[in-house]
Amino acid sequence: MQTIEVKTKSHPSTVYCGKGAVKQLDHILDGKDVFVVTDKNVYGLYKGFIAENFGGAPVCVLPAGERHKNRTSLFMILDKMLDARVRRNGTLVALGGGVVGDMAGLAASLYMRGVHAVQIPTTLLAQVDSSVGGKTAIDHRGVKNVIGTFYQPEYVVCDPMFLSTLPKRELKCGLGEIVKTGALDAEILDKLERNAERLFDLAFLEEITADCVRFKAGVVEKDECERSGLRKCLNMGHTTGHALELFYGRRSHGEYVLIGMLFESYIAEKLDICAHDHAEELRALIGRVLKRVPHFKNIADAARAALYDKKNQGKNEISLILPAKRGEFAELRLTDEKYVGYIEEIAGGII
Ligand SMILES: NC(=O)c1ccc[n+]([C@@H]2O[C@H](COP(=O)([O-])OP(=O)(O)OC[C@H]3O[C@@H](n4cnc5c(N)ncnc54)[C@H](O)[C@@H]3O)[C@@H](O)[C@H]2O)c1
Ligand SMILES: [Zn+2]
Repeated sequence: MQTIEVKTKSHPSTVYCGKGAVKQLDHILDGKDVFVVTDKNVYGLYKGFIAENFGGAPVCVLPAGERHKNRTSLFMILDKMLDARVRRNGTLVALGGGVVGDMAGLAASLYMRGVHAVQIPTTLLAQVDSSVGGKTAIDHRGVKNVIGTFYQPEYVVCDPMFLSTLPKRELKCGLGEIVKTGALDAEILDKLERNAERLFDLAFLEEITADCVRFKAGVVEKDECERSGLRKCLNMGHTTGHALELFYGRRSHGEYVLIGMLFESYIAEKLDICAHDHAEELRALIGRVLKRVPHFKNIADAARAALYDKKNQGKNEISLILPAKRGEFAELRLTDEKYVGYIEEIAGGII
């Protein structure tokens, strides 16, 4: 097990990563007034774990899935916290994937202007990405993560034991963010390429999780609230990914990140921001996870949803985080018409 410190200005976090990390809960929660948030699926699978680790603490069980990442679920958590008379020094434990983590994190930041938060991510995506860094959110009126806060958890407990119950589709989803991290860090990219045959092996995923967490911690420490621009790099593939995710739904967030990276790698290459060889190596890795790119109907309409992306500054401008040299990224701003034109052209060529 590795211990990774995230030294942010607002509040430092300690991440325990690897086999046996859940044992740390004994000292983390010792003497604390605990309130647990989870979802129906995780509750069904980990009832025993919850009883064993959180004793008689109140448990708020949310409906599972991105479509429930909304104000109804948020207020369900806040109402239950009030009912349970959670006080300001209480500790909210988020046990679940990124959806639970984002909503519970938001509730922790809002309830009485902030209670202690502990994240126990149970999906690969949540372990490598969403549980670390303090971004919290719900979706609203069709816009992803539009209501949210920056609020650091005190502890994050990433234990690979949770991955054993995860369907392959969810591993694929987490691999979306892992491949994204590879596009931002040359050493991680090398490791992914060396292990291209075992990307879905749990032993490999345990190892790469700690690498991704360490990378993200480094970025978040330098730019906690996405002010200097560095943290934006974590949004690679997300402008197009989010737009398609919102428009078409069904597939997982991570799969859309991979599809977004695929489209955007062609834009980067076309505009000479990324060399052909590097764009190709990224596409090869994406192909290892994704296997097949689906056919998207009315992709121009879907691409226009990118206008709602939070990175945009101008009214009709779309911001993209593109791969540049190995381990480097570049931000590009395009008018919506240009962007939509590229996406249509690429879709015509590759799908
Ligand atoms: N805060 C951030 O920085 C950040 C970063 C990346 C993604 N996100 C957000 O994360 C969300 C996606 O997270 P996700 O992919 O974890 O989705 P999710 O939370 O919906 O989990 C996926 C599915 O797996 C189930 N599940 C969870 N743990 C399980 C386990 N151990 N075994 C079996 N099933 C399990 C869930 O019930 C759900 O059905 C998106 O809303 C995205 O916006 C946030
Ligand atoms: Zn993401």
